[in-house]
Formats: sequence, structure tokens, C-alpha cells
Amino acid sequence: MADQPTYYLTTPIYYVNDAPHIGHAYTTLACDVLARFKRLDGYNVKFLTGTDEHGQKVEKSAEAAGKDPQEFTDAVSQNFRDLADFMNFSHDDFIRTTEPRHIAACQAMWKRLEEAGDIYLGSYSGWYAVRDEAFYGEDELTKTADGKRIAPSGAEVEWVEEPSYFFKLSAWGDKLLAFYDAHPDFILPESRRNEVTSFVKGGLNDLSVSRTTFKWGVPVPGDDAHIMYVWLDALTNYITATGFPDEQSADYKTFWPADLHMVGKDILRFHAVYWPAFLMAADLPLPKRIFAHGWWTNEGQKISKSLGNVIDPIELANTYGLDQIRYFMLREVPFGNDGDFSHSSMINRMNGELANDLGNLSQRVLSMIAKNCDGKVPEPGELSDDDHALLAQTHGMLDKVRHHMDRQEFHHAIESIWIVVRAANGYVDHQAPWKLRKEDPARMLTVLYVLAETIRHLAILLQPVMPQTIGQMLDQLGVPEDARTFAALGEGGALKPGAALPKPEGVFPRFVEEDSANG
Ligand code: MSP
Repeated sequence: MADQPTYYLTTPIYYVNDAPHIGHAYTTLACDVLARFKRLDGYNVKFLTGTDEHGQKVEKSAEAAGKDPQEFTDAVSQNFRDLADFMNFSHDDFIRTTEPRHIAACQAMWKRLEEAGDIYLGSYSGWYAVRDEAFYGEDELTKTADGKRIAPSGAEVEWVEEPSYFFKLSAWGDKLLAFYDAHPDFILPESRRNEVTSFVKGGLNDLSVSRTTFKWGVPVPGDDAHIMYVWLDALTNYITATGFPDEQSADYKTFWPADLHMVGKDILRFHAVYWPAFLMAADLPLPKRIFAHGWWTNEGQKISKSLGNVIDPIELANTYGLDQIRYFMLREVPFGNDGDFSHSSMINRMNGELANDLGNLSQRVLSMIAKNCDGKVPEPGELSDDDHALLAQTHGMLDKVRHHMDRQEFHHAIESIWIVVRAANGYVDHQAPWKLRKEDPARMLTVLYVLAETIRHLAILLQPVMPQTIGQMLDQLGVPEDARTFAALGEGGALKPGAALPKPEGVFPRFVEEDSANG
């Protein structure tokens, strides 16, 4: 389709120094839900994720594991791909920064910056945190009792002195500010945008973009003694994956600039300051949005390996169900804020909202249809005011959900759906179809039809969040695979009275405490 709208979204690429955990799964999950939503809404989507494999931090981790860096990154990168499959992520491409296509793109990017006159040779002396792969000014650091210097992120810094190429970041401050001004939704949420703006207003220093004291990275074109700063390398992945430096490639033309770079709040500065400055200097178009989400804590505590409280998404999914944790992560916390994981809140959401609100609604309605309508979609009669009222809410959902998804307000998107779940439950209680069976069987058929149509809408809209379980729910409603897009929400896709339905089975079990002992 020539005029099909397009949507390109990316996750950060993950450092391969460590096993994947819930924080990594969270960023990609948010993108997965949005990618699925856009596909169902008729977009040609490109969804990119991958691994960040160069730099001192990865080199050190490989060394500590007694492995050659390539062998080490091959193994850890595979863990991230396995997690992505396990989580049912629907990425279209998985990029690794050690791939030849990416090395070529980085070197092309470097040359453009150099030709633009934005790179010069100097020497760097200052503080560097390997954990963050970031340079810090003395004024940003705090000192511990034993004299160590600590970055605001909590990472320890070390003194670095070496020849280095610099990027003239200082020359781009005003242009960045003008860009933020002209594009008020470039950085979301708004509070983050204000942070970035005041950082840039404070004045930018030139950025050291090459290192000479280790080898694990992309060589600077024309000067092999230097390797490119890992963030310049890493950020370039977003454009590598579209075929850059081939600006004539179909993917580049279709998808660049990206619609959304999704990142955690800790790496916003790299994405909202450095990356746009690099792109402006290289005379390339800028992405349309950077969204910074918050961080998860575990039962109130910061998640860290040293505290031993890292949450393994696989373990979590084995306990509660994959779609249950996908739902929980996007429902529990206003997207953008920090959030706390606790087993009790997980169980509350799972039992209260999935098993009770949604699961019971569909199970009640489908079993009444199975018992009282011969297992066939009932034939509705004339609609009452109550029927019209519920259907109006049902039909109004897509616009609301779409509005929130376009601003990455996943929690509001889900709430817009839940308003209808609750309204449908209220309608069941009020209409009491089980009583109508004897009193007014024709009215019962109408009520069950209105409910079945409402459930069809709810399910179609919930597919991006819980693809597997909701897929089963749609199977039970007899909705064919090709009638599950948002275009099919309209009358053309409506359930056909008389169509035979399979035997209903609950898809959202309750969590009972013994389950944890078994699983
Ligand atoms: N390699 C860089 C990104 C380069 S992008 C060009 C990096 N990698 S990372 O593996 O350390 O982090 C990747 C993402 O995971 C970040 O967006 C970070 O915010 C997210 N999370 C890591 N721990 C997290 C939590 N505890 N909670 C939520 N997200 C967190 O940074």
C-alpha cells in the first residue's frame, strides 16, 4: 500500500555486561505494545531492539568472565534475544553493534561529523564512569568517606588522561534549545523535557568522542589509535538499522527519521542532547520523539545485583503468567513515573482486574451463550437505551485509546478500556440475563449479543498488551484472524448471529497462594 502510514520505534540497545532483568524487559515491552497497536491500526511498523556490545564496560566484563570480548558478547547478546522471544516481543530487527553493517554506519557518521568541521583532535583529562560510559565534571561528583568520587548515578568515576577527538557540542546549545521550542512533544514526559532544557541552558562542553586506552570498539576512520566513544557508536544503531549510510535504501526512505526512541530516564541526556546534536551536525533529520520512562524498584528497594534483588522476568512469568506480567507492568505505574514491584500488587491486579473484571465478564457471557443459545452467536432484537449506552461507550474506546497510545500513556490507554470492562459488568448485573432466560428469552438474546460485541471490542483493543490470552478470547468469540484489526472494529466485523462458537474456557485464572509453591 503506497500511502500506508509508517511508524519506526526503537528500544535502547542493551549492554551485554549482564543478564537481562525486569528493567530491560520493561523498556522493550512498552515498545512491543505500541508496535502491535500501530500494526493493528494499519501502520507499516519497524520495531528495533538490540545489544550494545562495545566499550570499556563490556571489555571489562568479558575479562572478568575470562572470555574474549566477541565470544562473551555473542553469548550475552543471545540471552537478550532469548528473553525477547520468551516475552513474545514482536521486533522486526535485532541489531548488534559488532555487526559489519553497524561498523560501516558508525564510520560514515564519523566522517560526516568530521567533514562538517565538528570534530577536532585534543586531549581529555577528567572523570569517567565506566559503569555509565560517561564523562563527568568535578562539580557533578560527590565524595565518599574513603575518598572515592561518585557520579549522580551512583557509579564510581576514575581519572582519565589521554589524547581524544572532540565533538563541538558547545556550538549546538542554541540550536538544540530552538529545536525543543519548535517541537514541544520532542521530549516526553514534560517534566523530563524541562530537565533537559535547563541542562542545555546551563551551557554545553565539547564532548570527548574517542578513546585510546582500550581497543574494544569501532576504529576512528583514518586514525586506528582511537576507537569511537561507545555512545556515539551506540546511538548510531538507530539509523544503521534503516540502511544508513545508504540514504537511497528503501528502509531509510520509509523509516528515517524514527517516530520514537523509548529510553529509561537514566539515559535521556544521551538521547535528547548528544544524539540530536550529532544528527544536526551530520545534516540528518532528527527523530520525532524521545520518551523517558521511570525505574522499577523491588518491594521499595533499588534493584541491584549487589543487593541480590534483581527481578528475573522469566521467573515472574512462570509464577504469574506472561500476559499477566505484561499487563501488570504497564498498568501498575503511570508510564514515565518510577514504580515499585511487589508480589501483593501483582496478585491484586491479576486477581482483581484480569480474573475478576475481565475474565469473569467474558466467561460469564460466553458460558451463558453456550448454555442458552445453543453455542451460537445470539440474534439481537430491538436495542434499549441501556444497550445503546453501553455500545456507545464501546464504540468510543478506540479514539481514546489511540490518543493515549500516541503519547505513550499506557496506563491511561488501559484505563480507557477498563472503564468499559466495568460498565459491561455493571450492565450484566443490571440486566440479569440469567433471569431473562425464563421471563423474556428474546430480551436475553439481545443482552447477550450486546455483551458479546462489547467483549469483541475489548479483546481487539487489548491484543497489544496480552497477545496470547486475548488471542484465545477472540478464538472463543469466533473472530477470524483477519478480523482482529482496528479496521474490523466497525460494523463489518460485528459478530454474525447464528455463527457457532467453540466451548468457552477461562483464560485468566486467579492466583492462589499454593501456586507459588508449585511454580
Ligand atoms: N547501552 C545503553 C543504551 C544505549 S542506547 C543507544 C544502556 N544499556 S542498559 O542495558 O544499561 O540499559 C538499557 C535500559 O534499561 C535503559 O533504558 C534503562 O533505563 C533500563 N533499565 C535498567 N534498569 C532499570 C530498572 N530497574 N527499571 C526500569 N528500567 C531500567 O543504557
